Amino acid sequence: MLLLVAGHETTANMIALGTWTLLRHPEQLEALRADPALIGNAVEELLRYLSIIQFGAQRAALEDVTLDGTPIRAGQTLVISIPAADRDAARFPDPDALNLARDAAGHLGFGHGVHQCLGQQLARIEMRVAYAALLRRFPDLRMAVPDEEVPLRTDMAIYGVHSLPVAF
Ligand code: HEM
Repeated sequence: MLLLVAGHETTANMIALGTWTLLRHPEQLEALRADPALIGNAVEELLRYLSIIQFGAQRAALEDVTLDGTPIRAGQTLVISIPAADRDAARFPDPDALNLARDAAGHLGFGHGVHQCLGQQLARIEMRVAYAALLRRFPDLRMAVPDEEVPLRTDMAIYGVHSLPVAF
């Protein structure tokens, strides 16, 4: 069950949301079309920029610890904001900018540590194939509705879009 949900909803939403994000950043999209070898890097940057598992990483403190001045007692649960980490300016300069050429390695889009996403290599392949094929097969791909009309998954645990109306 976990493999099905974790494996389908995540990649499906990354593909739709990532496509929309590329359409909203035409200069980045053009750079990717001009240099298809950028796709691996582009996927990592989209994972960082979008961080679709927003509150999915949870941890329990095994011992008393102080994190950035905040004391955490043994046994307490931490709900970690992956987007906050992935938009940390100390780690990624100009973090709110989408830059497909940046080195996004070390992002937490797949979590971290022993429970880091089990399907991440499959997910990477799916996204590389899907974005590359979409751009190749639909050179005129564009939005069919204004951005404000795209139904966002603000009501779901995995962020994304309920649908992405496009024209080609
Ligand atoms: C873009 C796609 C994906 C994203 C963004 C994503 C993200 C994540 C994140 C953030 C976690 C929690 C990691 C942590 O707690 O440190 C996770 C766990 C997990 N993911 Fe993914 N995932 C994706 C695709 C997949 C796929 C394709 C599969 C399986 C085919 C999968 C299976 C799992 C499983 C089984 C876990 C639980 C691992 C554990 O608790 O040890 N995920 N994923």
